[in-house]
Amino acid sequence: MANNNIVWHEPSITIDTRWKSNGYKSSVLWFTGLSASGKSTIAHALDKYLHENGIHSYVLDGDNVRHGLNKDLDLSPASRKENIRRIGEVSKLFVDAGLLVIAAFIAPFREDRRQIRALLEKEQFIELFVKCSIDECEKRDPKGLYKKARKGEIKEFTGISAPYEEPENPEIILESDKFSKDECVGRILDYMIEKKIIPASVIDQANTT
Ligand code: ADX
Repeated sequence: MANNNIVWHEPSITIDTRWKSNGYKSSVLWFTGLSASGKSTIAHALDKYLHENGIHSYVLDGDNVRHGLNKDLDLSPASRKENIRRIGEVSKLFVDAGLLVIAAFIAPFREDRRQIRALLEKEQFIELFVKCSIDECEKRDPKGLYKKARKGEIKEFTGISAPYEEPENPEIILESDKFSKDECVGRILDYMIEKKIIPASVIDQANTT
């Protein structure tokens, strides 16, 4: 419930100050896609690359967050909504702290993703649709969840018995059943350089080492 006695305290260090001293802009790279589409794999590969090249990034990953912060939430539509809402707020805090957030959640509902976008400044939210056919996801099935869903052992499984609403205008589409992990990471880096989120030297340095 809203408390009228709580007043916003302006931070003494602005985000522009943090960006200047860091040498890159904090923002949210919001991955969305089916289970087993490759979100976590690409997200962690990107995180590793950025870390090795002096950019402070951090992955918020669906399965991991559900072990702690959101362990009270199940996979019902209402809980998925709350899951994404909390992650949006956490992402915003991390952006204010100067971090590049890499969020990897199914986030099946368009409206929930739109609300995260609305929470942030225009350039701070980059939606990445990890596009992979359901057939391919089911073939990969690294956790055996599609198999269980087909047998009816998991109810409301995204793509099988629960909806996934594809993004209409994502900033980036990564066809993970056509391109390799490294090609997808390269695409994201190119985008971030083009939008001046990270300096071009991040790639130049890597090419010369
Ligand atoms: S979300 O829908 O709320 O965004 P989230 O990304 O946090 O989902 O978690 C999804 C993960 O939970 C999947 O990667 C999968 O391992 C697991 N999972 C368990 N049950 C389901 C289900 N019914 N539908 C989809 N994923 C499920």
